[in-house]
Amino acid sequence: MQTLLAPIKQFLKCETPDEWIAMACHPERLNELLIDHCNCELKAAQTAMFMIRKYAIDKTSGELLLSWAKPYEDFVYNKQRSISEFLARDVKKNELVGELQPKAGVDFGSDLIAKMVRLIKEEFHHFEQVLEIMQARGIEYQNLTAGRYAKGLMKHVRTHEPATLVDKLIVGAFIEARSCERFAKLAPRLDSELQKFYVSLLRSEARHYQDYLKLAQSIATEDIKQRVEHFAQVEAQLIVSQDDEFKFHSGRPS
Ligand SMILES: [Fe+2]
Ligand SMILES: [Fe+2]
Repeated sequence: MQTLLAPIKQFLKCETPDEWIAMACHPERLNELLIDHCNCELKAAQTAMFMIRKYAIDKTSGELLLSWAKPYEDFVYNKQRSISEFLARDVKKNELVGELQPKAGVDFGSDLIAKMVRLIKEEFHHFEQVLEIMQARGIEYQNLTAGRYAKGLMKHVRTHEPATLVDKLIVGAFIEARSCERFAKLAPRLDSELQKFYVSLLRSEARHYQDYLKLAQSIATEDIKQRVEHFAQVEAQLIVSQDDEFKFHSGRPS
């Protein structure tokens, strides 16, 4: 675990404040956190899907992706949803059926597709894993409004290509890296089921962070070091400054 975490700790400019960890360990807060975590897993998949659709594939391949996401989106947007019915569905149906064709003339297309499809598959799986834990604990799924964290990072994304894509990928790397850091810091303080689960998530989230960074560097026309440094400062500020809301990625509880 320490080998996985060392580069992440170096990448992030600060650790999660102890006040946030203490708050997360309150039983009531922990339930809210699971719901938010569940939301985040789906959002991670949706964001990656959006990137593939916008930059790397044509409309026909786009429809394949949309049909992959459909059962998940039907579940979250249906107020009559049932976790048990959703989890009992034939999961094989939720594999991506068919192959995505990279758009002509997009050099990074197949690399972006390969890395992001794997990521989406894993985020969908994490989403289902969190749901299972929620179901066992009698916690209902809820759609939550987004906190300030991702928005606060996205505000700094440049508005011309390929800089927009490069910045979004760097933001993706920070969100993944912070999730990793929080899972690792929370795990030893939680019950054994969550402890095991959070540690199991570290490996894939650590790879997601690296995949995002590698993609950013391969697409950028210059060294991304300065952009990474910029987002590192913005990110750390969002983590250490006071935050009125309590979320998986919120700042210091006020
Ligand atoms: Fe995940
Ligand atoms: Fe992830």
